[in-house]
Amino acid sequence: MSKELEPLSDPGLPEHIHRKADIDPIAAKRAEQQVAILFSLSALGTLLFIYSFFFVKEDVFIFLPVLGNTNAQQLGIGLGMAFGLFFIGIGAVHWAKTLMPDQEVIAQRHELKSEPEDRDALVKAAKEGAYAAGLGRRPLIKRSLIGAAALAGLPGVILLRDLGPLPGKDLEKTNWKAGTRLVTDPGDRPIKASDLEVGAVAQVLPELLPGQKRTLEDIGKDAVLLIRLRPAEFQLDAERLSWTHEGIIAFSKICSHMGCAVALYEQTTKHLLCPCHQSTFDVTRAAKVIFGPSARPLPQLAITLDSEGNLIAKQPFSEPVGPSFWERSS
Ligand code: FES
Repeated sequence: MSKELEPLSDPGLPEHIHRKADIDPIAAKRAEQQVAILFSLSALGTLLFIYSFFFVKEDVFIFLPVLGNTNAQQLGIGLGMAFGLFFIGIGAVHWAKTLMPDQEVIAQRHELKSEPEDRDALVKAAKEGAYAAGLGRRPLIKRSLIGAAALAGLPGVILLRDLGPLPGKDLEKTNWKAGTRLVTDPGDRPIKASDLEVGAVAQVLPELLPGQKRTLEDIGKDAVLLIRLRPAEFQLDAERLSWTHEGIIAFSKICSHMGCAVALYEQTTKHLLCPCHQSTFDVTRAAKVIFGPSARPLPQLAITLDSEGNLIAKQPFSEPVGPSFWERSS
């Protein structure tokens, strides 16, 4: 047993006053009903949140004094969540203050380390406390609490929907297709092989179809760098060499590390450099990573000429552009 310390003979506590619900069964019943009402209001608040989120249109406005024209959906979501959390908290506090055990106990001071017997006693007391809280004997509180608590977590889950739809396979696709013309960025002009001298670099995008609009997301995935070398400078296998045209090679401009624009080209070394974390890619070897954190080369776009002599894509990218984690299966 733990060693007891000398108790205070008179700690100066005022006499304990019993609450009305402890001595009056009618007051206890009334308190029980009040707690149940508070939990039910919490459940109603959560239902208001759910209704507003799913069924109130985003463009509905209502006039409120002081606030003026107010978006009904936002109002319902805000009030519903506030009521849901407020009333479940108030209900729990009211339950604790009116109905939970209200006994004053004297805890004798003793050494801090608990003996096994004391720990067993604690577990026993916790179980007795749970019983004394009256969950078993007060089914009204139990049921309303279960209902309110079950609903209270829903707003957090439902709000995840506002993060937008899952990207699915979108991140793996670009607008490059077989036959898509390469156009200058800016300018949107088709580009011919003769427009690029040896050593030159150009940024290109896929040509827009009539009525098509280009979004920032499109540019973030579609941007391609064209670089012209002397054909003899390439160290490529036969397939990758066939993806070039007269020394012109095309790579995704989106860094395979974390998606920055690979914007620096060193003409003498024929290296592409990403300014974010200094990943360096060797253009002569199909953008192989020769320095930095990037885990894979920049995807190469296969190019050729159309009947008018304009550069076009031979096929879509053969792998996702951008950060490599898109390719991970786990
Ligand atoms: Fe290019 Fe990190 S984003 S090196």
